[in-house]
Amino acid sequence: MKRVAIFISGGGSNMVTLVDSMTGDHPARPVLVLSNRADAGGLRKAAERGVPTAVVDHRPFGGDRTAFEEALQEALAPHEPDILCLAGFMRVLTAGFVTPWEGRMLNIHPSLLPKYRGLNTHARAIEAGDTEAGCTVHEVTPELDDGPILGQARVPILPGESAEALAARVLEMEHRLYPAVLRRFAAGDRTRVDLP
Ligand code: GAR
Repeated sequence: MKRVAIFISGGGSNMVTLVDSMTGDHPARPVLVLSNRADAGGLRKAAERGVPTAVVDHRPFGGDRTAFEEALQEALAPHEPDILCLAGFMRVLTAGFVTPWEGRMLNIHPSLLPKYRGLNTHARAIEAGDTEAGCTVHEVTPELDDGPILGQARVPILPGESAEALAARVLEMEHRLYPAVLRRFAAGDRTRVDLP
């Protein structure tokens, strides 16, 4: 059975779908939900599900990313995770943290990578006149929003649609894609998942 830690920064809806998926014959179980914000709504949802939680606030570290990342590793270590899932974790992790986790760390990003790395993905897709948007689950490498793609889900962009409306429709697909990829990944299967 693989042990999964999940990093969040906010509401944690993707985290909830991952946690809720890891039952029965699933090859993994959640062992920790960690947030860099004490007020992240996802912490309560994790606790309600009986998953241990931790907070490592980045702010006391100022700009010292290395010290922050050491604190993350210290919080993780007692839970002995095999896999680390970033799920709306809004801090950039440096190579010092990522490299030891390479091949064992996943992220979900709200665009069809390699398009629109970084923030404001939906507004940028609409602005560019794209006809479709979506989300990507990929292995995390030191380069931001890069790394081998394990799955994508696509949604059409509707005429006149706002970035907020598009984000809500993509989020629904995120909730289907991430659990599907994690199930395969935890079983050692890196075959790409494409939805719908
Ligand atoms: C999701 O849309 C996720 O793809 C995005 O943040 C949201 C978190 O929602 N992640 C990023 O933008 C990472 N750069 P959630 O907290 O409800 O899962």
